[in-house]
Amino acid sequence: MTGTPGGEASLDAFFAGLDRLEADAAAALVGAADEAAVEAARVEFLGARSGRLKAIQKALGGVSQADRPAAGRRFNEAKAAVADLLAAAQARVRAVATPAAPPLDVTLPGPAVPRGRLHPLTQTIRRVQEIMGRLGFEGVDGPEVEDQWHNFEALAIPAEHPARDPLDNFYLATAGFAAGRGGTMPDAVNPLLLRSQTSTVQIRVMEQRRPPLRIVSLGRVYRPDTADATHYPMFHQVEGLLVEPGTTMAHLKSVLRLFASSFLGGDVHVRFRPSFFPFTEPSVEVDMEWGGRWVEMGGAGMVDPAVLAAVGYDPDEVTGFAFGLGVERIAARRHGIDDIRDFYRNDVRFLRQFPGS
Ligand code: FA5
Repeated sequence: MTGTPGGEASLDAFFAGLDRLEADAAAALVGAADEAAVEAARVEFLGARSGRLKAIQKALGGVSQADRPAAGRRFNEAKAAVADLLAAAQARVRAVATPAAPPLDVTLPGPAVPRGRLHPLTQTIRRVQEIMGRLGFEGVDGPEVEDQWHNFEALAIPAEHPARDPLDNFYLATAGFAAGRGGTMPDAVNPLLLRSQTSTVQIRVMEQRRPPLRIVSLGRVYRPDTADATHYPMFHQVEGLLVEPGTTMAHLKSVLRLFASSFLGGDVHVRFRPSFFPFTEPSVEVDMEWGGRWVEMGGAGMVDPAVLAAVGYDPDEVTGFAFGLGVERIAARRHGIDDIRDFYRNDVRFLRQFPGS
């Protein structure tokens, strides 16, 4: 099909032109070193106005009617091939041009991890331990599940005392025999209970050690009290005990005043009100002034000689004082909180206000 009369382009020549164009485009695009070279090749081969493919497209009009379908197919093939070459070349130079991710710098600080904070009651407990430690009191712990002896009997609270009423305590329905003194009685007679006061620890320590003693114990206690602004069924107490020859009520008052001014500030007023506890004689309630009124913070007194005798001490040789304060109440007083239930609501907006670690 060459030399067609009437000036029609030969199909062979048309094909040859496309072959050449494809080869030239491949050489230009595969060898293009950068984006500028690829762009120049694009304009040369695929340029809309004067690209070489455009020129060949125009020549398509000169191909005879009979040959035009074959010529058109081959033209489209060549156009697609050059477009593919262009896309590959563009991707290649772009990858080279895109800077690699900066190297990892292990010396830079990492993303900040949000830190939690201690519950305000835990902060209070630690602060109380620290203050009492400075006054020479050693921190000790005792069990939260107690027997009748340590929670009541050794503290001179006899079986008929209203403090032992089932409605005022959380007795446990346990199997077997209760531990401790009197533990040979069946549970029905000597049921275990969740301790209702930390004074139990006084007994546990005195049973184990000889005077002189200066101990402080902080922990949970349980009573079936209805929750209100100053009561909760589970709360914490701080128990202090000092047993040394010559200890007097004056020592007790001094220690409590020192503690109160260290914990709450020098201007706090402390009041000692005559009261009664079976295990102290004399006994006082310890009140602190709060917003123009007196709030009861705890109980205290001189350790009753009967208690000293019950643990094997000689009341003629040593005397001692003891006190027990409500941790929730002193924490509320310190931070100006008027409802101790706030400590247990788990509202992070409340808890966030206590940033101490
Ligand atoms: C006692 O528990 C005696 N063991 C204190 C004591 C120790 C006296 C040593 C003498 C010698 P009382 O039941 O009053 O005492 O409780 C002491 C303090 O615990 C109260 O003043 C109060 O601050 C706190 N408290 C009592 N019940 C609750 C409660 N339900 N919720 C929060 N705090 C309470």
